[in-house]
Amino acid sequence: TVRLLTPQDLAGETFLITAGPTREELDPVRYLSNYSSGKMGYAIALAACRRGARVILVSGPTALTPPAGVLCRNVTSAEQMKQAVLEALPQSTVVVKAAAVADYRPVERAVQKIKKGKPEQVEMALVKNPDILAAVAQAKTEQLVIGFAAETHDLESHALAKLKSKNLDLIVANDVSCPQAGFDVDTNLVRLFYRDGTSEQWPLMSKLEVADRLLGCVERLRSRESS
Ligand code: CTP
Ligand code: CA
Repeated sequence: TVRLLTPQDLAGETFLITAGPTREELDPVRYLSNYSSGKMGYAIALAACRRGARVILVSGPTALTPPAGVLCRNVTSAEQMKQAVLEALPQSTVVVKAAAVADYRPVERAVQKIKKGKPEQVEMALVKNPDILAAVAQAKTEQLVIGFAAETHDLESHALAKLKSKNLDLIVANDVSCPQAGFDVDTNLVRLFYRDGTSEQWPLMSKLEVADRLLGCVERLRSRESS
C-alpha cells in the first residue's frame, strides 16, 4: 500500500547498500567492532525500495530486520563485506556505503579461546582491513557511488579528502560527536559534499528523512548524467 502511494521515481535502478558495523574476530568468543547500529543504511534501503528501486543490502551484524522486498546479504567481517559488495557491484547502478567498516583486524584469529595470562598489560597486533570503497572505485563502471564519513573533528577537510581519495560522487558527513547525529540514534545531522565542489548543510532530521532526501539527490545526479 505504501508503494502505491509513493512515486516510483527510482524504478529501474539497483541500489547496493551497505549498513552496520563489521566484526573482526580475535577468537571464538571475542571481536573488535564499533557502535554502528545500521539504522542509516536500513533507512536508505527502505526508502529506495518504496520508491521502486531494486535493493541489495549488504549488512554487518545488527539488531534490525531487513525491510520487506530487499535482498539482504548478511556478513560479519570487512573481508566478507568486500566480497559481497564486489559480487553485487556489476548488477548495481547506485552504491551507498553507509557501513562502519572496522579499519583494522587482529593479525591472527585464535582457534581456541585466548586464556588470560600473568601479564597485567598485553598488546594486540592489528592489520589494516581492505578499503571497500577504494575497491569499488577501482572496479566500478557506470555506477554512482555515495560514501559516508563519520567525523568528530575537522569535518569538512576530512570529508573532502575522502570524497577525492575514494573517487566518490557524493559524501554524507556526520558529526558523530553530536549526540543527535551519532551512532545508534534515530536522527542525523549531515553535511553533503559533491564532486563538483558544492556542499549542503541539512538541519537535524530523522534518519528516514535523511534517506529520502538523499535519494532525491541521487535521482537528480542520475538525471543530470543521462541528459
Ligand atoms: N569504508 C570502506 N572500507 C573501509 C573503511 C571505510 O568502504 N575499510 C567506507 C565507509 O563505508 C564510508 C567511508 O569509507 O562510506 C568513510 O569511512 P570512514 O571510517 O569515515 O573513513 P576512513 O577512510 O576509514 O578514515 P578514518 O576512519 O581514518 O576517518
Ligand atoms: Ca574508518
